[in-house]
Amino acid sequence: MSGGIEVRESHPEDGALIEALYPSAFPDEDLLPLVRELLREGPAVLSLVGILDGALTGHVVFTTCGVLGAPDKVALLGPLAVAPARQKQGIGSAMVRAGLQQLQSAGVSRVYVLGDPAYYSRFGFVPDDNVTPPYELPEEWRGAWQSLSLCDDTSPLHGALSVPQPWRKPALWGP
Ligand SMILES: CC(C)(COP(=O)(O)OP(=O)(O)OC[C@H]1O[C@@H](n2cnc3c(N)ncnc32)[C@H](O)[C@@H]1OP(=O)(O)O)[C@@H](O)C(=O)NCCC(=O)NCCS
Repeated sequence: MSGGIEVRESHPEDGALIEALYPSAFPDEDLLPLVRELLREGPAVLSLVGILDGALTGHVVFTTCGVLGAPDKVALLGPLAVAPARQKQGIGSAMVRAGLQQLQSAGVSRVYVLGDPAYYSRFGFVPDDNVTPPYELPEEWRGAWQSLSLCDDTSPLHGALSVPQPWRKPALWGP
């Protein structure tokens, strides 16, 4: 809990509300096929919802991934969505922070994200040139590829991020 915000793992019964959230938060992008596939991935995926005043208003997914050639367990953050009418009330931050804490307890050493640094820098994410995303990013998106260390050893990993099937679609990695 943080203020009136509760963050918890999603249940199958949240499906319809999660499905309604994405088209409103991303009117120009259809992320539902990705979200549906991720929710079918089972324990490899941490799916959290944000509840404000009893209403489901946010959703975030963290996917367990690997870095080829490194033993570390890492995660990919995304998608992240908050209902437009409820944005800027701390729900996105509460979900991200709760997820990072849970992943840290589960021994995940680093989390990657492709997103706006103006938002993700508040959690400590910094641009990452050492681990490459599954598909080459367009030049203008390079600064959006970031990571955050969750362990004491903050030295970067090196290699290519290996993602499960739902993320193996070039369209998810370019405009
Ligand atoms: C991005 C998003 C998840 C943030 O959730 P939220 O609950 O509104 O965020 P919080 O209340 O925790 O944080 C609000 C802060 O984030 C900033 N912010 C929100 N969206 C931002 C964005 N896309 N880029 C940069 N900053 C952003 C707000 O200006 C506000 O800044 P302030 O704290 O300096 O006032 C939400 O705005 C959203 O769903 N947007 C549409 C979908 C999207 O862009 N998802 C992220 C994909 S990378």
